Amino acid sequence: MVTSSAPGKVYLFGEHAVVYGEPAVPCAIELRAQVTATRRDDGLRVNAGDLTLDGFTVEYSGDSTGHPDVAVADNLVEAAMGYVNEAVAQAKAAASERGVDTDAGFDITIESDIPLGAGIGSSAAVVVAGIDAATRELGISLPREELAERAYQVEYAVQDGQASRADTFCSTMGGAVRVEGEDCRQLEAPELPFVIGYDGGAGDTGKLVAGVRDLKEEYEFAAATVETIGDIVREGEKLLAAGNIEEVGRLMNINHGLLSALGVSARSLEAMVWAARDAGALGAKLTGAGGGGCMVALDPTPESVTALGYTPGCEDAFRAGLDTTGVRVEDDTNE
Ligand code: PMV
Repeated sequence: MVTSSAPGKVYLFGEHAVVYGEPAVPCAIELRAQVTATRRDDGLRVNAGDLTLDGFTVEYSGDSTGHPDVAVADNLVEAAMGYVNEAVAQAKAAASERGVDTDAGFDITIESDIPLGAGIGSSAAVVVAGIDAATRELGISLPREELAERAYQVEYAVQDGQASRADTFCSTMGGAVRVEGEDCRQLEAPELPFVIGYDGGAGDTGKLVAGVRDLKEEYEFAAATVETIGDIVREGEKLLAAGNIEEVGRLMNINHGLLSALGVSARSLEAMVWAARDAGALGAKLTGAGGGGCMVALDPTPESVTALGYTPGCEDAFRAGLDTTGVRVEDDTNE
């Protein structure tokens, strides 16, 4: 039995613009998904009692035609199962490329502290931890670069080609990273005092991405706005390297304004962003696709968390420091 965990992430800068080849800087946060893989004779049994899905257990063999008998929206269950199914397939492919027998089935148990679909990388964390646990259970340990690439392939398959490498690379490596197309690297970063506000909901990533694409095609100034977000990222990474988090915060504010101009903010996100700013945060912005879900602020003091606690529309507010570990093994009984 192997248990691995991997962190969620926030975007310091660059979501949406990254879809059009601009760079983005996601940062891993100290909030984890944990996946346990145990070999069984055949088939796949998934236990995800702790996802925000009311809890479900699914058992099937071979393909994913088996359907769980649970009172949860089909699309959520299918999405969750799709990720697990593809992650196990990637683990088996990695093992068989190394000449390891992959005839086994798996019991997979998922526990996650990361809200689903809220812009902080829940699916990537589950996929990264899942591939890591399943490959180790088969007796192999993948180089991190390969793990990140296989996790990206899972997201690419499940999300019909609508995935950037940002989430999976960040969750695998930890820390602050820079992603520009296929070019992914780790960045030097100071301690970042993240505060996260969550409205309890989730935006529709596909719709939001399509909305930005339409706007960008219709108006040259919308296309210029996307390029300006790229400029913010290029400037922001220099400030990060210099450890100037006050100025990083200011650029987060500008980045948020431009995302808002592109139509991907929401009333709840604006309320939380302004609550954090009024409380003295160095900067605050939405994170991820937008439309609802999470915002992120930089605040070394307790003020933003307190203010968010009183903000209408904010369901949860918490501090989450920069995770510098990435994927890690929690327990390995094979060792
Ligand atoms: O909401 P998330 O964490 O899935 O982030 C979406 C980020 C986008 O840039 C809008 C889309 C993408 O795949 O990069």
